[in-house]
Amino acid sequence: MAMSREAFGSRLGFILAAAGSAIGLGNMWRFSYQASEGGGAAFVLLYIAMTLLLGIPLLLAEFSLGRSARLGPVGALRQIGGRHWSRLGYIFTAAGLLILAYYSVIAGWTLRYALESLTGQLPADAGAHFGAIAAGNSAVGYHLFFMLLTIGIVMAGVRAGIERASLLLMPMLFLILLGLAIWAATLPGATAGYLKYLQPNVEDFLNPDVWRAAAAQAFFSLSLGMGAMLTFASYLSRDVNAPQAGTLVALTDFSVAFIAGLVVFPVIFSFALQSAVGASTVGALFIALPTAFSAMGPVGQAVGTFFFVALAVGAITSAISLLEVVTIWLIDEWQMNRKPAAALAGLTITALGIWPALNTDALGLMDKIAGELLLVFGTLMLAILVGWKAKSEMQAELEHGASTFWAAQVPRILAVLRWFVPPVVLVVLVFSARETWQMMLDFFG
Ligand code: ALA
Repeated sequence: MAMSREAFGSRLGFILAAAGSAIGLGNMWRFSYQASEGGGAAFVLLYIAMTLLLGIPLLLAEFSLGRSARLGPVGALRQIGGRHWSRLGYIFTAAGLLILAYYSVIAGWTLRYALESLTGQLPADAGAHFGAIAAGNSAVGYHLFFMLLTIGIVMAGVRAGIERASLLLMPMLFLILLGLAIWAATLPGATAGYLKYLQPNVEDFLNPDVWRAAAAQAFFSLSLGMGAMLTFASYLSRDVNAPQAGTLVALTDFSVAFIAGLVVFPVIFSFALQSAVGASTVGALFIALPTAFSAMGPVGQAVGTFFFVALAVGAITSAISLLEVVTIWLIDEWQMNRKPAAALAGLTITALGIWPALNTDALGLMDKIAGELLLVFGTLMLAILVGWKAKSEMQAELEHGASTFWAAQVPRILAVLRWFVPPVVLVVLVFSARETWQMMLDFFG
């Protein structure tokens, strides 16, 4: 065990760091893609429902484990569940590691686009441009740069690195996105975008894939099943009202995804770029929006710069939480000091990320396996552990520091975790496994 464990300096610092972990590329890259694929409004409504009914109970499950054990995923699950449960900790840690390896490649594209917007170099044919830069040496270079930034922050520690970065960057991201959503409302044809985004189509609710995608998106976006929330909670004081903090984090995460949709959909419809969105998982962000920005001259240059800077900010605050998961494993289990642990974990992930930086199909496959299947499996086991095996200890943990109102909600939330979450997540797991299997056959076949 680490000799002296660090702690967040304030409740706000913890909430912003946890929100920073949640808010990231998932809210913009994954959300806008999934929403446009999954029929727009139906996906958005299901995603809200999944965030409330699955996301919040699972988030609080991670908070209770981390705060009670004051250890990272492997140590916490061993301490609370017994030796066999430490395997779930390894699954969380592996998910964090694998996700960061490709996440950083996408973040690297974002940095590049921010720079190109700033210098007025976003080309008119964003599709061809993206095809040229998405994989290859330049993608490796930007990935490396992004990882070095992430490693630097995690090396500085919880309070001086992670908390300070979150306090500065999260309000900045929120303000930029809000400004962009107001600007998007002024575009001609914005209404068609809002209709697609906000007016549900009944048939889409009957499609099980939309349900699966909404659940998986809620897990990815709340950083569940990757050990990040558990790890952050291990630095949280027991005096903090954890159920309230978790609900705030989930609602902030949802709001940011929702506002990002209020930017993305009007722009796409105003410039009639729907076909560019559907073409690939990256269509909306890296093809459709840059096409619009480059068609708008100097205004587009400014808007594009703000948009991609916001995206990069979201990416870095999520990336630090994922690197922290692997770093804490080296600190807790291998008694390493923080700086070498962060450097070793970060450089290993950087090396692993070279594959998706050279091959976008590999990136898609890693997102399916680590960003969906592992998360869904991990959250199912998490619900079983906290909802069944360790229910009374975790209930006491969540009630500790909670106000009367929130303490009264804890048994209700745990009942949802016990009875509702496992069967729903099990169904999602079956659909996810089928999709992943199909994708693997396509990739290796
Ligand atoms: N939760 C992080 C995101 O949404 C991983 O980007």
